[in-house]
Amino acid sequence: MKPREIKPYIYWVGAIDWGRRLFDSLIPLPDGTSYNSYLIKGSDKTALLDTVDPPMQDVLMNNLSQLEINSIDYIVAHHAEQDHSGAIPQVLNRYPKAKVITTPKCKDMLMDLLNIEPGQFITVADKETISLGNKTLEFIYTPWVHWPETMTTYLKEDNMLFPCDFFGAHLATTDLYVTDEGQVDESAKRYFAAIMMPFKNIIRKNLTKLKDYKIDIIAPSHGPIYDRPEFILRACNSWVFDKPKNIVVLPYVSMHGSTYKMVDYLVGALVQKGVTVKQFDLTVTDIGKLAVALVDAATVVMGTPTILAGPHPTVAYAAIMANALRPTIKFVSIIGSYGWGGKAIETLAALIPNLKVEILDPVLCKGQPRQADLEALDTLASAITQKHQEAGFK
Ligand code: FEO
Repeated sequence: MKPREIKPYIYWVGAIDWGRRLFDSLIPLPDGTSYNSYLIKGSDKTALLDTVDPPMQDVLMNNLSQLEINSIDYIVAHHAEQDHSGAIPQVLNRYPKAKVITTPKCKDMLMDLLNIEPGQFITVADKETISLGNKTLEFIYTPWVHWPETMTTYLKEDNMLFPCDFFGAHLATTDLYVTDEGQVDESAKRYFAAIMMPFKNIIRKNLTKLKDYKIDIIAPSHGPIYDRPEFILRACNSWVFDKPKNIVVLPYVSMHGSTYKMVDYLVGALVQKGVTVKQFDLTVTDIGKLAVALVDAATVVMGTPTILAGPHPTVAYAAIMANALRPTIKFVSIIGSYGWGGKAIETLAALIPNLKVEILDPVLCKGQPRQADLEALDTLASAITQKHQEAGFK
């Protein structure tokens, strides 16, 4: 992909990674991603905003060559993670007079991660500005998206926001701007769920802070650019400010069918009572979809057989993931089966200390579920429904 002009003197110079399927060796990327880097040519100075993931640094360098960029004065580093910062050494190698503009915290991290010399940095305070001549960059601290050092740049004369990961979507596309809002909403929500949801209290503060700015364009560092930013601002606000919905997320594993029978029965009972259920067979599910479902859910019910005297390890993995993602769920329960005994319930409950939830009575049956077990599942469905109604979850 060649450089793309967004506006006169403002260019996208990043790289599109169509084939990437995993981030952080953990997060599935079904639609690839992009590493967006932006070049702003002011009347006096030129700034590069973020770089790209190191394996694609030649794409960035080639884009700068195509634009015949002979000098760069500033490299703005919004975030130290290497998918945006990793090509800074290469850029500094070609443009040795460039200074890296960043927060003090990000400077420390970039020195640790990339061995950049301290003399190459200019650190900026929250809301400090730097002039490029006819264009002004304002740096806004927006911490914990999803690391502590993150910031955003506001280009004043063009009402453009460059928030790096914030509002980003892992989506490879040739569209410079968002064309399919439904698709981008799903990708952006998946990204939010996977890395930002644990920090939603601070994300709320960042969103509130950005309300003071007139924003015509949001240019994130992953996915297409928002030329109708109200769509992603509304979505992001709903993910962090809205109450949980009348939804149960039910991740499970079944080895010989008993746990599946219980899952199926409970799902039926909940649906009859008007509760939406999102059911995930963890042996085949995309863990990113499970994370997305957790954004809106009020309750999680984990379904597990007992193996080696504990929960199925795949269910334990999902519990650890949910604990790390800190969704706003309010209730948890556990259902499943055992052959002769074990501590599946105690082990799973101990894996979710971060979740400030009420544990509803679990239902574990010996072997196949019998009438009394099904009646216990009816009782659990009634308890969940009542809790949702009392809390006003719709
Ligand atoms: Fe896209 Fe946190 O890096």
